[in-house]
Amino acid sequence: MATQPLNTVRVEEHKLGRTVVHPGEVLRHSLETRLVHWGVAIFFVLALLSGFALFTPWAYHFLSPLFGSGAWARLLHPWFGLGFVIMVVPLLSRWKRAMAWGDSDRRWMKRMKEYITDTQDPEPSYVGKFNAGQKLWMWTMVACAVIFLVSGIFLWFPEHLGRTSAWISYFFHDIAGLIMLGGFFVHVYEGTLALPGSLRSMLHGTVSREWAAKHHPAWYQDVVAGRDAEANEAKPRKPE
Ligand code: HEM
Repeated sequence: MATQPLNTVRVEEHKLGRTVVHPGEVLRHSLETRLVHWGVAIFFVLALLSGFALFTPWAYHFLSPLFGSGAWARLLHPWFGLGFVIMVVPLLSRWKRAMAWGDSDRRWMKRMKEYITDTQDPEPSYVGKFNAGQKLWMWTMVACAVIFLVSGIFLWFPEHLGRTSAWISYFFHDIAGLIMLGGFFVHVYEGTLALPGSLRSMLHGTVSREWAAKHHPAWYQDVVAGRDAEANEAKPRKPE
């Protein structure tokens, strides 16, 4: 089994680009994973903004000009939503194993308050690639994507699928939208200000070994032992 040497430059080659893992770093998210994540994020933000433009008159006032007009926001919103749902599929397929819920996640949930109030403390040794809070966000996103899709189809074609089902769909569509709006703010805060070094993993693909050992100790052990498939996509760079 390949172990990760500390002092060699490793490179993940991909037809769309390369990720360089410098000495003292480990690969956390491959280029493919990062592209899919940002695809999800872009479609989600566009769907969110165009959706809120249709949600309340005051939001309509300042959000609809972003899309040209209210009519354009109405026209584009279902397509942005569809883009979001489609992009969730490859994200789920890449992360479904790492996101599986287990006993350690139940333990983590009991100490969630400590996590929120003191992010400087190292995470418990059982925390793997994602902690239970991150898994909760992932599965909320998947559940909301399903709700958006099903209710969205009824709202898209009310003349064919019936006005009553469209009214019921409004309720579920809007609840899912509000849950995701709240989750989005928490997620962006957690991915940037709350945990310095985290955003780098989604921009450049890598984190420092200290960051990995502190925030995801069980995952770091897997990486060091060569058991993390994604981290092993980076190969030692050949001498030039
Ligand atoms: C636009 C601002 C966003 C930023 C700055 C951001 C940042 C990040 C970062 C840094 C990670 C990696 C965390 C880690 O490796 O531990 C991550 C993961 C993730 N992102 Fe985002 N993201 C954004 C938007 C979104 C949106 C809009 C969604 C979905 C609607 C999303 C869904 C996810 C999921 C499911 C994960 C994995 C679980 C987690 O780490 O919380 N992200 N994001």
